[in-house]
Amino acid sequence: MLKVLSVIGTRPEAIKMCPLIKEMEKNTSIQSVVCLTGQHREMLNQVIDIFKTNVNYNLDIMQPRQSLTMITSCILQKIESVYINEKPDLVLVHGDTTTSFVAALAAFYQKIPIGHVEAGLRTYDKYSPFPEEMNRTLTSKIAELHFAPTRNNCENLIKEGIKKDIYITGNTVIDAFSTTVKKNYIFKNSKLNDILADEKKVVLITAHRRENVEYGLKNICLAIKEISYAYPNLNFVYPVHPNPMVRNIVNEYLGGITNVYLLEPIDVEDMHNLLSRSYLVLTDSGGLQEEAPHFGIPVLVLRNETERPEAVKAGTVKVVGTNENNIVNEVKKLLEDSQEYKKMSKAINPYGDGNASQRIVRHILEWRKND
Ligand code: UD1
Ligand code: UDP
Repeated sequence: MLKVLSVIGTRPEAIKMCPLIKEMEKNTSIQSVVCLTGQHREMLNQVIDIFKTNVNYNLDIMQPRQSLTMITSCILQKIESVYINEKPDLVLVHGDTTTSFVAALAAFYQKIPIGHVEAGLRTYDKYSPFPEEMNRTLTSKIAELHFAPTRNNCENLIKEGIKKDIYITGNTVIDAFSTTVKKNYIFKNSKLNDILADEKKVVLITAHRRENVEYGLKNICLAIKEISYAYPNLNFVYPVHPNPMVRNIVNEYLGGITNVYLLEPIDVEDMHNLLSRSYLVLTDSGGLQEEAPHFGIPVLVLRNETERPEAVKAGTVKVVGTNENNIVNEVKKLLEDSQEYKKMSKAINPYGDGNASQRIVRHILEWRKND
């Protein structure tokens, strides 16, 4: 039996790893062990509960206003004993968080092979997104197995000199919809039932990136404020990340506006069902850029670049930056021009068909056989 230890730290890692863990649990050739670093607390637990994922370890490292150094050193120190205790045949990490990179580094120190899920995304700007671009680049250097969601991701890895064990699998985030998305869904957050009953179109907003907190979030909020005043017939729903630095800015500029609903983070079931019923998404999140195209919801990316060019090429995602006027103009263009909206609102699936987890499990088992 192959012992696979999956390490998860934050909300998006959990959303994208839980379907894979479920798939491994079904397979009699695999023993699945799960370690949470607890880089996130409430937002991580929300996801684990919904997917009913079995957890074996929780390092519980989260501290308010944690620095990158704090996250890195706490995980590095605490995870070593888990690896020594479990002696897994393979450690799986996901994406580009500090949990992913540090869990991979600690596994490398124990000479345990590493599988990287969602490998090969790049902007080639090491400060944007920060620190994610460096986290994922370094993780690629350490990993043995690279599960690339798209061909473009695979090509990035080849360009960097990785010669073998790259598998194109699709993104497991699409797999998650089979657990979360439901017809006639009743939201657990009752505010969302009220907002949707209103029958006004919903603009869904999320913004939390470290580089935006430092520079762009104030502009993003000012743009949303202007748009919300210009369009009282729309509802703006913004589940706000609990990071105090994000909250302070968002509350200062967007608090108290009648058609802007600032909510606590909503759980992933509420989120995916809200997304599928939204008219437009404004976000700096990575995951939402992959999810919204599946439902044909246009996305304006509140960043200067993206590591997810596939949906941009397909025309459903547009990078608009963090300049206030630019955001306002791009949103107005979409709201005023029905042709423009129609062009962006095609349902496309560049990120997968919902079977990425199955493919990853198959590749892991083949790798083991040939090893
Ligand atoms: C982290 C990831 C980022 C990912 C994001 C997803 C790193 C460096 N960053 O950023 O790549 O896009 O998660 O959301 O790995 N907090 C809570 N409760 C929670 C979670 C966070 O209170 O459940 C607060 C804490 O005060 C914490 C702060 O948010 O210190 C920031 O959390 P952190 O994980 O350091 O950064 P994120 O911005 O969430
Ligand atoms: N999400 C959620 N509740 C929220 C906001 C986001 O469940 O209140 C989901 C969203 O649908 C996506 C994921 O969290 O699946 C994205 O995570 P986040 O924006 O935190 O991180 P990123 O994708 O930017 O790394």
